Amino acid sequence: MSADGGGPAGRGAGIRVTGLVKRFRSGDGTIVGADRISLAVPAGATVAVTGPSGSGKSTLLHLIGAIERADEGRIDVDDVEVTGLSGRRLARYRRGIGFVFQRFHLLPALSAVDNVLAPLLPYRTSFDKVERARSLLAEVGLAGRERAQPAQLSGGQQQRVAIARALVGRPRLLLADEPTGNLDSATGEEIINLLWRLRDEHGMTLLMATHQTSLADRCDRTVRIHDGRIV
Ligand SMILES: Nc1ncnc2c1ncn2[C@@H]1O[C@H](COP(=O)(O)OP(=O)(O)O)[C@@H](O)[C@H]1O
Ligand SMILES: [Mg+2]
Repeated sequence: MSADGGGPAGRGAGIRVTGLVKRFRSGDGTIVGADRISLAVPAGATVAVTGPSGSGKSTLLHLIGAIERADEGRIDVDDVEVTGLSGRRLARYRRGIGFVFQRFHLLPALSAVDNVLAPLLPYRTSFDKVERARSLLAEVGLAGRERAQPAQLSGGQQQRVAIARALVGRPRLLLADEPTGNLDSATGEEIINLLWRLRDEHGMTLLMATHQTSLADRCDRTVRIHDGRIV
């Protein structure tokens, strides 16, 4: 795998979404999670995705991160047509995306350092995985807590581990789905400051779903969605 990435700041990915549709089956009906969404995010931009619960914020992030597949439409990230990928090329694309979830999604039986390096485990790398994981933990303020398991860490610390894990593949695009939604406001503020610092240092594009207007205000642009549509 090419997890090495590297390169200076300003390496963020540009995103172009065109006519994206995602339907979910629900009982005997269909829910439209994304309803012809078109969107352009310039390389290196910070974009907030806002809208009420159930409006389709997570769906949009999952589609761009290729966690879910679109039914119609097209996603391009830099020169890669994501919606046309399959197999190894799709797996490689996914590895190049950092994803931060509201509920952290750490593996409870693994230490912090093992959670961070877990995405790299199946791959041969030209660098030492443990060293990279340790250095990322230091970068998110968790030096000395490498061996701690998630249950021994506070919510804010768990999200820091999850952020370090999201960065382990040197992503050019970081997708954050309500990253402060499970944290008190002071801890949430710390996490946001951390995300902003990392975005600057690593030169990533940041696309973040959030309910918080204070957070959206810090972004270059806000995309509001309602019922799967951009408003
Ligand atoms: N896996 C799924 N199966 C069925 N319906 C889903 C699924 N994921 C999302 N939905 C539905 O799609 C709509 C958008 O959901 P979501 O993207 O999670 O919204 P948000 O993140 O803005 O709260 C909602 O109506 C939700 O219930
Ligand atoms: Mg959501």
